[in-house]
Amino acid sequence: MAESRTGGLPAATPWAGPKGASIASDTDRDWERFGATDPYYGVLAEDRFRSENLSEEARREFFKTGEEHVAHLLARLRRHVDPAFRPSRVLDFGCGVGRIVVPFARACDEVVGVDVSASMLAEAQMNCAAHGVGNARFVLADDSLSRLDGTFDLVHSFIVFQHLPVDRGERLLPLLLGRIAPGGVGALHFLVGERRSPAQRLAAFVRRRVPLGRNVVNVLRGRPFGAPNMEMNAYDLARLLRILGDHGVGEVCLEGTDHGGYLGAMLAFRR
Ligand SMILES: C[S@@+](CC[C@H](N)C(=O)[O-])C[C@H]1O[C@@H](n2cnc3c(N)ncnc32)[C@H](O)[C@@H]1O
Repeated sequence: MAESRTGGLPAATPWAGPKGASIASDTDRDWERFGATDPYYGVLAEDRFRSENLSEEARREFFKTGEEHVAHLLARLRRHVDPAFRPSRVLDFGCGVGRIVVPFARACDEVVGVDVSASMLAEAQMNCAAHGVGNARFVLADDSLSRLDGTFDLVHSFIVFQHLPVDRGERLLPLLLGRIAPGGVGALHFLVGERRSPAQRLAAFVRRRVPLGRNVVNVLRGRPFGAPNMEMNAYDLARLLRILGDHGVGEVCLEGTDHGGYLGAMLAFRR
């Protein structure tokens, strides 16, 4: 069997969601469209964060969720991974509009935000300026992370891998692990299962498998016919642990997440 870049694992088969070939998707193009038209909703899919509804108050609440995320994460890393953890250099993979970059910037010397959408990065840059953050840099992603330099004390990613096809995510994971400095820490989030209603599952099936299905679902939900798609892909936890193990990570601390029935795992570990 041909070896993949996932450390000898055969190519992944997504195990959650409907079986069978899916309609070909271009997640990068969809994310650039979210970035250009509805960036805050693309990050947190709640109506109050849609471009047309985004009040100053909603914007404040949006960034407060990022502050809470970073406070919770750092406390957890100190409790379970390293009591004295204080990262100097942080990488936020799939940084979106900088919701998590801003609070990271206050807790470390330098943050690098990476995203596949140039429009998301432009918005993130504006948000950093608006929040008085001067120690964040932004880099456009590609599948070899070729525009990144050096290693990081903390490599972080939240609600990003779930939007990538599993085989692509499994190829990216070792590259991110390689960016963790020796003794540094990883905190990476993956969707690993779901507890969704039959109607939600049917909508996902139609979006994914039926030609023009995503457009039909858009219209039924009162959204424009051609609104971008947000793919949701679940990863196999055993395969993830094997990839981590192949890269020298033996002990992993796992926290479960539940976003409206999408069940995730935040994996935290020292390299
Ligand atoms: C749901 S948003 C989360 C943003 C941020 N992590 C947060 O929690 O605020 C997902 C982000 O991942 C980015 N993304 C999607 N595919 C990516 C890829 N292949 N490489 C890097 N970023 C990607 C999207 O552009 C989007 O900004």
